Amino acid sequence: MSQYQIAVIVGSLRKDSFNRKLADAVVKLAPPEFTFKQVQISDLPLYNQDDDESQTASVKRLKDDIKGAQGLLFVTPEYNHSIPGVLKNAIDHASRPQGQNAWAEKPAGILGASPGVIGTAMAQQHLRNILASLDVPTLGQSDAFVHVTDGLFDEEGNIGSESKEFLQNWMDQYVAWVKKHAG
Ligand SMILES: Cc1cc2nc3c(=O)[nH]c(=O)nc-3n(C[C@H](O)[C@H](O)[C@H](O)COP(=O)(O)O)c2cc1C
Repeated sequence: MSQYQIAVIVGSLRKDSFNRKLADAVVKLAPPEFTFKQVQISDLPLYNQDDDESQTASVKRLKDDIKGAQGLLFVTPEYNHSIPGVLKNAIDHASRPQGQNAWAEKPAGILGASPGVIGTAMAQQHLRNILASLDVPTLGQSDAFVHVTDGLFDEEGNIGSESKEFLQNWMDQYVAWVKKHAG
């Protein structure tokens, strides 16, 4: 395979989300054969199993974006020591109806940013549990619990010098992981 399309799922709807900024910046560290698309989760209805046979256009769009990708990149905040409800809602939608789990076998990387020092560690662990149940292989190392500091991004929105080497290393591992598992 020469080109890899990655679906990026950001777990925050906040306008000035650090995690969305991180997603925007980190993809610039990937090689040219990787392209990234942030999938929209803000317009998904609350998941209701009664609707499994009549999924909305927004749910079908999400599932098509996932199915068309060779890999997944989750970039999420931690809410109350777990993942935000909007992210879980999106995951549940694309896992259904039973037997039509769009996430299955897509290699995934997980990143998270928080102003708290160990922030997102618990959310990331919860996310790993969820993804295991959906047959999603997740990159195990390196863990990336990104601490939001003044220097995390430079003035152009790129990863700042303090975190660049660490996140470049993470991206290199992620790229190798996707290439190993995709297709
Ligand atoms: C409902 C709620 C719960 C939160 N719980 C945690 C938490 O458990 N751990 C943590 O590190 N930060 C927590 N935070 C702070 C977030 O890390 C912070 O708001 C962060 O900026 C959210 O990510 P975003 O900028 O991408 O929206 C919480 C924030 C909210 C709104």
